[in-house]
Amino acid sequence: MTSPVRGAAVVTGAAGGLGRAIAAALHADGWPVLLTDLDADEVAAAAAPFGGWSAALDVRDEDACARTAGSAASRGGLGLWVNNAGVLVTGPSWDHDGPTRRRVLDVNALGAMNGTLAALAVMRAQGHGHVLNVVSLAGLAAAPGETVYAASKHALLAFSLGTLSDLRMAGYREVHVSCLCPDGIWTPMLHDRLDDPGALASFTGSMLTPERVAARAARLARRPRPVVSLPRWRGAQVRLLDTLPRLAIGLTPLVRAVGRAGQRRQLRRAASTDRG
Ligand SMILES: NC(=O)c1ccc[n+]([C@@H]2O[C@H](COP(=O)([O-])OP(=O)(O)OC[C@H]3O[C@@H](n4cnc5c(N)ncnc54)[C@H](O)[C@@H]3O)[C@@H](O)[C@H]2O)c1
Repeated sequence: MTSPVRGAAVVTGAAGGLGRAIAAALHADGWPVLLTDLDADEVAAAAAPFGGWSAALDVRDEDACARTAGSAASRGGLGLWVNNAGVLVTGPSWDHDGPTRRRVLDVNALGAMNGTLAALAVMRAQGHGHVLNVVSLAGLAAAPGETVYAASKHALLAFSLGTLSDLRMAGYREVHVSCLCPDGIWTPMLHDRLDDPGALASFTGSMLTPERVAARAARLARRPRPVVSLPRWRGAQVRLLDTLPRLAIGLTPLVRAVGRAGQRRQLRRAASTDRG
């Protein structure tokens, strides 16, 4: 069943990339959207075409997330909170230092938990609402070269689904949590990774546009689902491999070759777009 827009939507990490595209798609679908990101000026510029409602928010700050949820709700309730902010680091896990590992987990896992819990405090009180968490295919299966990132996204998926079950057990039928798990998306997160051997996993499928993922997010916002993969066949593929870890590890050379070919393809595409 498709639900009507009820209250405001908040999008984190919305100054660019997928976050800005999601804000645009939600705005076009009739949501009043509060765009948030680290830099106040950048996110204000991003928000200008979509209602001009913006605020600085570092998702690692639990109190700031709560304040943002409160101020968004003051304009007719909080209907939707999209945890989109994320960071990627690549390369073997033994090459990362402690602060790098902590930053990835702080933003992608703990930051999204901060956002989820800030939104749920409002949504449980008002009796309805929807938290949409942007996960990744790397939340469904291991991603060679993107190990810490995949660990943070696995944590987010487990947290989201467990929280949804807890909501149902506590009797909240109209408060939802959805997870969107897209394949690689052509955003600034990947723009400088076309020759990065650590990022091969992101180039093994069909590279998505932020607009395509945002359109799916806007549909999901109206029709909650626990987990949605994009494209669907890739979700099925990585989930199957996840049940066969020895096979998956044996296929690593193939993953490398397919990912390298994907990087070259994307390089050609980017070059022809630049020329056009
Ligand atoms: N690009 C991909 O291939 C891909 C694939 C699957 C999932 N995702 C996920 O999509 C989401 C959006 O990523 P993107 O591709 O647009 O990347 P991006 O790097 O273009 O954008 C990420 C945004 O998050 C913001 N951000 C970083 N740290 C933050 C913090 N502490 N608080 C608030 N905002 C913060 C950045 O300022 C930036 O605007 C991420 O969660 C990412 O993991 C990306």
